[in-house]
Amino acid sequence: MSNVNEKRLAGEAAIRHVEDGAIVGVGTGSTVAFFIEALADLKDRIQGAVSSSDQSTAQLSKLGIPVLDLNAAGPLTLYVDGADECDPHKRLIKGGGAALTREKIVAAASAKFVCIIDSSKQVDLLGKFPLPIEVIPMARSLIGREIVKLDGHPVWRDGVVTDNGNWIIDVHGWQITDPVALENQLNQLPGIVTVGLFARRPADVVLVGDREI
Ligand code: A5P
Repeated sequence: MSNVNEKRLAGEAAIRHVEDGAIVGVGTGSTVAFFIEALADLKDRIQGAVSSSDQSTAQLSKLGIPVLDLNAAGPLTLYVDGADECDPHKRLIKGGGAALTREKIVAAASAKFVCIIDSSKQVDLLGKFPLPIEVIPMARSLIGREIVKLDGHPVWRDGVVTDNGNWIIDVHGWQITDPVALENQLNQLPGIVTVGLFARRPADVVLVGDREI
């Protein structure tokens, strides 16, 4: 079960990675919401944030933190985001909130990825949390059939449209022993926009509550 207090501690602890004058990459979710709250206290010391979702943009804007375009911001020094699962190698499943594509883009643009989680997200093997995959709508059935060939059980997240206008398939039943290989394999399928595995580019630092692992 998720632990709200640990999420708050993790969000607040990530502040120590924020440097003066930085443009901070900001993820999405309930843990990140605590980070954004804490970041607002420092808003006069940073240039602003690059956001990974409409949801985070709304919170950042409400708290008076400038939201900058990634193309204008250039390479970022820091990205802070939550996760749905985290293995001992800091490889992640993300996308429970359907924001995986922009999250992966901002993570890729950032020198350091600080992942903030509560202890319920720690796993030995990724895959108990259904793996989110963002797909181009017309490819939903095609991708579903490909996943079945790989012994996965695809479930369309009916009614959810991503910030990019696409759909989400959640894959149940995979025990992901080689996350890098699976991420690479799925990335090859036409119609998949983003796989919610963050294994090729894992987190650099993981904060479980205020404890760094
Ligand atoms: C958003 O799409 C996800 O990748 C989130 O980072 C993830 O679901 C973590 O969310 P919570 O912090 O709300 O648990």
